[in-house]
Amino acid sequence: MEQIKCIGVLTSGGDAPGMNAAIRAVTRTAIYHGFTVKGIRRGYKGLITGDIVGMESQSVSNIIQLGGTILKSARCKEFCTPEGRKLAYENMQAAGIDALVVIGGDGSIKGAGEFASEYNIPVVALPGTIDNDLGGTDATIGYDSALNTIMEAVDKLRDTASSHERLFFVEVMGHTAGYLALNGAIASGAEAAIVPEMETEVDQLAELINNGFRKSKNSAIVLVAENPKTGGAIGLAERVKKEFPQYDARVTILGHLQRGGSPTSLDRILASRLGEAAIEAFMEGQRNVMIGVRNSQLVYVPFSKAIRHNKGINRTYLDLVKILSI
Ligand code: F6P
Repeated sequence: MEQIKCIGVLTSGGDAPGMNAAIRAVTRTAIYHGFTVKGIRRGYKGLITGDIVGMESQSVSNIIQLGGTILKSARCKEFCTPEGRKLAYENMQAAGIDALVVIGGDGSIKGAGEFASEYNIPVVALPGTIDNDLGGTDATIGYDSALNTIMEAVDKLRDTASSHERLFFVEVMGHTAGYLALNGAIASGAEAAIVPEMETEVDQLAELINNGFRKSKNSAIVLVAENPKTGGAIGLAERVKKEFPQYDARVTILGHLQRGGSPTSLDRILASRLGEAAIEAFMEGQRNVMIGVRNSQLVYVPFSKAIRHNKGINRTYLDLVKILSI
């Protein structure tokens, strides 16, 4: 701990509402405790190109309410190579950065782990992704905001679905994780959620239709997690056309809309708590951990556990969707 004077902060991978609130909390907590802070732009790419800026308390004024990330983000292939990480280390040294806060999802945390062990650098990660697919934490920064965006979109789709008595497949993000689809379905009162976690167990589409999911209804909305294996919502709609032609199916892909917008209060509070905890973790001598939140308590999660997407889907929630859609 005694050698840390300057802390670098970056956002990496898919952006998520609340990343700015996290940058703000990291910057201000660090300054409060007497550290110097540097912002690295465009994630790991900025480390490789030396795109590094000084951060003052005012640098993060008026950003808590903004979606996206003021530091910008990128998916950086070069950082996956030893040569890229060497360049990153050299630039980090040149900028006088002693420790790093990485805000991002599983790919970013995996990269952080490799970098930290190769160069013996103290790194703390914050879970920043709308997907909520990181182990060891109940929620990730951006997940709640994305859920709210999904809920509002489905509220609108329901108007047209019921007017035309159609079956709608609404595809949401999740990077092959079903949290957004499942909780989005509960929040919007959708008729069903189709999630990758159940894919090998059951033919979810056939089950849904054979169970007569529209018994008492003329329209239906099914939330589908993106899934390259099944083709997501488009793949399901194609199957309906062939196997269940009695249904008039439509597809809506919410796509990157889910990543934008002002963060909800839950995400702002989560990001603020995690950002403060990142700096305190360094002060306690912690390194190479992600800060998570379990049952409202902040916890340190080893990188290896964080990137293992093993939370599993809560099956009682799947039952809940079924029960409430009769
Ligand atoms: O942010 C995570 C995520 O939203 C995934 O759910 C999705 O698969 C991916 O990002 C899309 O990433 P990109 O913007 O790079 O296409």
